Amino acid sequence: MPTPAQLRKLTAAAQTAAARAYAPYSKFHVGAAVLTSTGKIFAGCNVENASYGLCNCAERTAIFSAVAAKERKLKCVVVYTPTPTATAPCGACRQVIYEFGPKARVLSFCASRDRLDTTIAALLPAAFGPADLA
Ligand code: THU
Repeated sequence: MPTPAQLRKLTAAAQTAAARAYAPYSKFHVGAAVLTSTGKIFAGCNVENASYGLCNCAERTAIFSAVAAKERKLKCVVVYTPTPTATAPCGACRQVIYEFGPKARVLSFCASRDRLDTTIAALLPAAFGPADLA
């Protein structure tokens, strides 16, 4: 679990990222922030495309940014949506979270007090992962 200070930074980063979402088609703005094993935080937003299938979720933007900085171990993923209810990561993002953080904690916040506090293990039971290819 992140420290209270880390959690504040993560939620702030996810909220800032949500404000930068490029979502002209769905108008559904999502921000995410990940905490890596070295204590660094990487944020990302959803980035949509006129070719709808190319849309990239906020969680994957944040994770790919971490990986591009050679930070490959995720401790925590925080999602923020400016909605009345909290949003859980989609199936594709759950798979990507599992790749880099099989024990990661996943927290979702929104504009109300609603929230989700869970783990990737609970969100993606019996996951396929790197060990299956070994
Ligand atoms: N989206 C995310 O960024 N994360 C999720 O976990 C759920 C969906 C984005 C993708 C698309 O840009 C928009 O929300 C509507 O699906």
